[in-house]
Amino acid sequence: MFETLEATSPDPILALMQQFRKDERSGKVDLGVGVYRDGEGQTPVLQAVKEAEKRLYEEETTKSYVSPSGDAVFCDSMRQLVFGQSIPSERVKGIQTPGGSGALRVLADLLISVNPGSRTWVSDPTWPNHLPMLLQAGHKLERYPYYDAAKSTVDFDAMMQSLQSASAGDVVLLHGCCHNPTGADLNQEQWHAVADLCEKNGLLPFVDMAYQGFADGLEEDAQGIRILARKLPEMVVATSCSKNLALYRERTGCALMLAGTETAAANSASRAVSLIRANYSMPPDHGASMTRIILQDPALTEQWKAELESMRARMERLRQEFADALRKRSNSDRFDYIAGQKGMFSRLPLSESQVDKLRNEHGIYMVGDGRINVAGLPDNSAEAMDDLATKIVGVMS
Ligand SMILES: Cc1ncc(COP(=O)(O)O)c(C=O)c1O
Repeated sequence: MFETLEATSPDPILALMQQFRKDERSGKVDLGVGVYRDGEGQTPVLQAVKEAEKRLYEEETTKSYVSPSGDAVFCDSMRQLVFGQSIPSERVKGIQTPGGSGALRVLADLLISVNPGSRTWVSDPTWPNHLPMLLQAGHKLERYPYYDAAKSTVDFDAMMQSLQSASAGDVVLLHGCCHNPTGADLNQEQWHAVADLCEKNGLLPFVDMAYQGFADGLEEDAQGIRILARKLPEMVVATSCSKNLALYRERTGCALMLAGTETAAANSASRAVSLIRANYSMPPDHGASMTRIILQDPALTEQWKAELESMRARMERLRQEFADALRKRSNSDRFDYIAGQKGMFSRLPLSESQVDKLRNEHGIYMVGDGRINVAGLPDNSAEAMDDLATKIVGVMS
């Protein structure tokens, strides 16, 4: 059977990472990778996680299965982080999943099982993996324009005009904060307008919350979701602990379902459980257990929040330093937008051939669409930042 298969082309970001590793130039810069890096280029284990892991080692008495829906205390902590006090807690049910990707897929399966004919509207551009994930779950995809590349801002008018064509029962996939790949987020007024449109036309928001705490802070970053939740009877949210708790490989996330009533929420969770049972059966436990330990202990929670805040503040500082260096080298305000965007990613206004030139001639690596990970920018070296800005402006002229 397998001899009929042809090799699939490697994921472009993974291929870029491999190429970077093999590059022997000493001044190479990695702006392509999709994980947080500190000033030493490491993705460290958080101290709060180390402590929780120690406690888990001491306290754990079994490796028997958790249930398909996972640990109820973990799920409730995730509900609290995302929705706060915005809605009655009994209207939300959470299911522990293998990472944010697992949550996205569980929710994609749930939505298609409830409404097989629905269309799902996805921002253009979006995280590339959204597309195969939704397609494989059976969604019919529609795209809405999101980004004005000339102005480096959200093209909100075009987005709203396009979403006018969505019909009742259609799903709208939104990034809760830190839009990947653009770093351009909706403001509060725009979230209200999206909520109004969803209410008026019966659209269901499906929010991907992969970076809570990376934009403006844990509470601030949840405002968009809470605006939707206060207004709408139903929505779903995929959360991830990969970035904000740096638990990447522990595969920790949560699928949250908000329904009009407690019974409807419980029934949506029970449908999701039957889909999970027929898929991976049970979620992994280790990351969720550590997260539960952290969020149940006020001192550990504070420690985690301080570590998260230092990652967030560092990215904000690097954004500003990079924008300043580009302003100086380009003698224009063309790059000022970088300082105001959110999270780990922004897009540089570069063509693919300019991206190739930066990589081939200068060892500066970024994704082909000009997406950069700001956490990979040179830290504490004004000279290295200036050098980077000079090379970028150089390929553009
Ligand atoms: C927008 C977006 N959603 C979801 C994910 C998935 O995260 P996880 O590693 O938790 O599956 C990512 C990871 O890069 C992402 O960027």
